[in-house]
Amino acid sequence: MNTVIVGAQWGDEGKGKIIDILSAETDYIVRYQGGSNAGHTVVVDTKTYIFHLIPSGILHKGKVCCIGNGVTIDPQALIKEIRGLESSGIDMKKRLKISYLSHLIFPYHKILDELREGKLIHKIGTTRRGIGPCYADKINRCGIRVVDLFNPKVFKEKLQDNLKEKNEIFKKVYRHSGFEFESLYKEYLGYAKALSGYAANVAVLLNKAIQDKKDVLFEGAQGTFLDIDFGTYPFVTSSSAISGGCCIGSGVSPVFIDKVVGVAKAYTTRVGEGPFPTEFSGDFQKFIREKGHEFGATTGRPRRCGWLDSLMLKQAILLNGISELALTKLDVLDGLKSIKIAVAYRYKGKDFKEFPCDLEVLNKARPIYKEVSGWNENISKTKRYNDLPRNARDYIRLLQDILRVKISLVSVGSSRQETIFIS
Ligand code: GDP
Ligand code: IMO
Ligand code: MG
Repeated sequence: MNTVIVGAQWGDEGKGKIIDILSAETDYIVRYQGGSNAGHTVVVDTKTYIFHLIPSGILHKGKVCCIGNGVTIDPQALIKEIRGLESSGIDMKKRLKISYLSHLIFPYHKILDELREGKLIHKIGTTRRGIGPCYADKINRCGIRVVDLFNPKVFKEKLQDNLKEKNEIFKKVYRHSGFEFESLYKEYLGYAKALSGYAANVAVLLNKAIQDKKDVLFEGAQGTFLDIDFGTYPFVTSSSAISGGCCIGSGVSPVFIDKVVGVAKAYTTRVGEGPFPTEFSGDFQKFIREKGHEFGATTGRPRRCGWLDSLMLKQAILLNGISELALTKLDVLDGLKSIKIAVAYRYKGKDFKEFPCDLEVLNKARPIYKEVSGWNENISKTKRYNDLPRNARDYIRLLQDILRVKISLVSVGSSRQETIFIS
């Protein structure tokens, strides 16, 4: 069974926790897009791991973890992550495979990410990890890939070409001194040495594994509404975060994908700028942010919080082909008198039942809510669906009815044990 796990909102839905749980039953775990902008949290006993580039299944012995061609790799960040896991006793050389075709992030991408944000009227609020500029180079056919690191002559020429053009832009547009070739070249040849044991033809490796009847889990990063095409553009990331991205980002054909599982929080969060129709205001915003520890796993920025939005989830189900949802952080809603779910948007006297394409509508629309009663109990120790408070079960049932999709897992805390499976 080859399964894609995808974020159904604006990222940080708890994908890391779900991937870690599902990894126990798979053979390969593959990241297919994004880069170190992602922060996927896995809590095991008292230890918290935050994965940025390495698949969240790495803690399960014997599983092969792959970074596909669709991922942008910051080698410095990757090597730091590898070293950290090695110090926890994980044999990374045996377990991690990096695609030769992945594009590399250079310091000039990160600085450009920062400088561009500084100049924009409407800032995106990026993670400043160089993601956008690196994907731009990929599409512009001047990117440098992992494979290039292992051919010093080719790497030298490509880096020289890039610096020639980019240094002009840095100087003339941004009044920045630019980057010196020799030190950057040496730095990256050092990374080549450190990464040589990991580089592989990941597409071939995965296809062979699938032929051998192995199971593959595709780990989406970011979320549906940060997708470059279907997200709230331009307030999005620069990759295909929807499930379709797993094929182009790994080299596995769509005919081998068996199932797509969406991950959604029981409310909504967003980090960075952009429209957010159900966003809370005032003290309630602060209350939920603190209760849900809603601070970015990568940048530490406070996440914006709001009610669950069924227009978004319906759109995510449609775009990704989601047949099952994992609903996370339901415990954060403990103790609320009532809980709201957006079921439509009203704008200029018109009701929208589908997530609109026009950002103007999203920015100005007023959500129409369905309001249900909350529960007083602390649900984080609940192990079985039937032991959840009646109102929590009603909330889950109502969601299933609105979305017409099965909720197969409910997460009630950050650890592996705080998970309810619904058969
Ligand atoms: P990801 O990017 O989708 O992997 O999500 P993040 O790791 O960025 O953010 C999710 C946060 O919520 C992490 O701190 C998790 O440890 C935490 N978390 C995940 N599931 C639950 C849950 O059911 N309840 C609570 N309270 N926290 C959770
Ligand atoms: P995970 O995988 C939440 C957001 C940034 C910004 C926008 C563009 O942990 O869910 P970028 O640096 O990608 O150019 O920033 O996308 N963003 C995320 N928000 N979770 C993420 O990843 C994100 N990755 C990027 O905050 O709004
Ligand atoms: Mg995250």
